[in-house]
Amino acid sequence: MCGIVGYTGNRQAAPILLDGLARLEYRGYDSAGLAVRDGDASVRVVKTKGRLRLLAEKTDDGRTLVGTVGIGHTRWATHGEPSELNAHPHVSGNIMDNGVTTDDSEVVGVHNGIIENFAELKTKLISNKYTFYSETDTEVAIKMVDYYYKKYKVGPIDALSKTMVRMRGSYALAVMFKDYPGEIYVARKDAPLIVGVTEGEGFVASDVPALLKYTRQVYYIDNLEMARIVPGEVTFYDLNGDTVKKESTTITWDVEAAEKGGYEHFMIKEIHEQPRALMDTFNSLVKEQKIDLTGAGLDDETIRGIERIHIVACGSAWHVGMASQYVIEDIANIPVRTELASEFRYRKLLLKPSDLVIIISQSGETADSLEALREAKAMGIRTLAIVNVVGSSIAREADNVIYTIAGPEIAVATTKAYSTQLLTMYLLTVQFAFVRGVIDEEQYQYYLSEIKTIPSKVERILENKERLQWFAAKFSAEKDAFFIGRGLDYAICLEGSLKMKEISYIHSEAYAAGELKHGTISLIEPGTLVIGVLTQKHLMEKTVSNLAECKSRGAYLMGLTSNGNYSLEDTADFTFYVPRVDEHFMGSLTVIPLQLMGYYLSISRGLDADKPRNLAKSVTVE
Ligand code: AGP
Repeated sequence: MCGIVGYTGNRQAAPILLDGLARLEYRGYDSAGLAVRDGDASVRVVKTKGRLRLLAEKTDDGRTLVGTVGIGHTRWATHGEPSELNAHPHVSGNIMDNGVTTDDSEVVGVHNGIIENFAELKTKLISNKYTFYSETDTEVAIKMVDYYYKKYKVGPIDALSKTMVRMRGSYALAVMFKDYPGEIYVARKDAPLIVGVTEGEGFVASDVPALLKYTRQVYYIDNLEMARIVPGEVTFYDLNGDTVKKESTTITWDVEAAEKGGYEHFMIKEIHEQPRALMDTFNSLVKEQKIDLTGAGLDDETIRGIERIHIVACGSAWHVGMASQYVIEDIANIPVRTELASEFRYRKLLLKPSDLVIIISQSGETADSLEALREAKAMGIRTLAIVNVVGSSIAREADNVIYTIAGPEIAVATTKAYSTQLLTMYLLTVQFAFVRGVIDEEQYQYYLSEIKTIPSKVERILENKERLQWFAAKFSAEKDAFFIGRGLDYAICLEGSLKMKEISYIHSEAYAAGELKHGTISLIEPGTLVIGVLTQKHLMEKTVSNLAECKSRGAYLMGLTSNGNYSLEDTADFTFYVPRVDEHFMGSLTVIPLQLMGYYLSISRGLDADKPRNLAKSVTVE
């Protein structure tokens, strides 16, 4: 998604803006730009299509853009193809060839999100003699601010609030006004935006990593709020233009946590952070061998009143839901329906007041998941968010929230966030089962003790990663791969397949092993890679015979199972073992080798495992 940065203070702005955008690169983008102002001189705008380094080259690392206030942007195209013209910042007048904005450019700004009614607003503006140089919804938004600013002769905050009332959709806006040198104004609805203030300086960003170098105290701007940032000070406003008091949030992530910490990629670093992240998440919910969900507003009475659970998410978060449904139904006897958020939103929702809708999301900003949450809330259904980013939209709009403690996840392909979400769902399940009298104290403590061993068992798997690196190198030229499993193992196949697809670009499919004979087995050819996940004792034999069916058609079989199931070597060509844990929680262990497989395949194919093509870390558009 787009990245926004802003700076006003006593230092040159451009180098600071470039540095901030570099820390937001993971959000996915196709073009970038800066707008910088020196005192009350006209703003200068520089934009490039492509990578950020082109913008740095064009501005000699920011040195040719003189000024102590500015905004920057990395764009992920939604309206209008990736181009320099469509790149942000956009202006309410025009930009001359030398990058200087024309005198009628009262407003210069950047935007993250989608203005759904931009076409209607554009028509209105054209009828008021505005002309347009780009195809973007952002240019429309910036010109709308200018329109209200001039028509009603109001200040920046009033011009912004009038624009917000007219616009539909999502936006994080950062704008500068010609009549207000040294000041940055921001407005937000549904797209993330944070503010940081230090002695004599003010910062704006889409996400924490861009600010960590300067401050740990950040302010999260809430929906339909605005702010005015001047050196050393920020003032927040609501839609009526009244000031709003806000507390800052202390970010415990240090710059290291957002850097690569010595690993080649964020992804492999984050894979290795899983034991720590799992332990932190466990300890955030378990005190003195008791799971405490009261922080999430889930007291015993509420838990007893739940008759059905809907888990709603996208991508890997949905895979967490697919795995969790087996665990919840088996341990807590609660019916579960797991649904893709983009499907949930458009179905006839037969929800009942006694339902619980759980939204799982690493970023807390995924548009489909956020809208699904709103649909459930609009029906008066209790909503619980499992989110990794403090203060994110989903976290703040859900009735209850449980934060995973995975720390910043920079790689586009999720690993530690997935694992901490899964562990959180285990703890939720065990607590629900105990409170509802489905399990007794002894079983409760048994499950807790089993879950508590997961971090160290993940550590042990990571110590064995070389075997997977060797295996992945063998298959780096593979065109197709199939993951098969039954029950919980099938849910892990979904995640293993996505990891492989999204970062190595090898086409793969996850199949319920019993489903192969209904069509897909026709795709198995000599040498096709079939990866079987087998950890559920009562399903083992059947999956082995499915593997044998593939082998008889020439497939190359990899078997992924738990220590002790050595008979699998009679069928599989390559077997990888993970430590044992209660079968309900085996997914937390089998997913690790599959994450590593995806990563090693990606790098063996010379690809960027952190920033795979066409993908964004957080999909804040529909
Ligand atoms: C998984 O590796 C992908 N990054 C993607 O599927 C992701 O899980 C999905 O977009 C959901 O994102 P969220 O957890 O931030 O809502």
